[in-house]
Amino acid sequence: MAIKLEHVVPFGRSLGEYQAMFDLTPCDLSKRILGVGDGPSSFNAEMTALGHFVLSIDPLYRFTRQEIKHQFDAVVDGIIAQVSSTPADWAWTYHKSFEDLKINRMAVLQTFLADYVQGKNQK
Ligand SMILES: C[S@@+](CC[C@H](N)C(=O)[O-])C[C@H]1O[C@@H](n2cnc3c(N)ncnc32)[C@H](O)[C@@H]1O
Repeated sequence: MAIKLEHVVPFGRSLGEYQAMFDLTPCDLSKRILGVGDGPSSFNAEMTALGHFVLSIDPLYRFTRQEIKHQFDAVVDGIIAQVSSTPADWAWTYHKSFEDLKINRMAVLQTFLADYVQGKNQK
């Protein structure tokens, strides 16, 4: 196993990663989307900013903004350390290095958190 995680970790991907991961087309993005387990992904925030509709559900959303940030901060360096110690287990096509991976994950979290309170209040 490449890395070992003791708990579900609040790591999130960006809209660009979702597009690549799910092969989402512009037509797909124009639909009303239910994101199950979106966690601290910036998919919803980025899509909303573009005028699209995404409803995200995740047990993580019972926590406050500060609690989610704290959970991320508590695990990020340990996960990156595990990834950096097993470089051959990963494809470095999207993220160019483990430093790049950390920077991207932190940027995604920032985008998610900036939209979190407002997004939860949207009907
Ligand atoms: C590693 S994060 C990935 C988040 C997002 N899917 C992404 O790819 O960026 C996994 C998420 O799955 C959520 N999760 C775990 N069990 C779930 C469940 N039964 N229903 C919905 N979400 C769940 C966790 O709370 C966590 O936020």
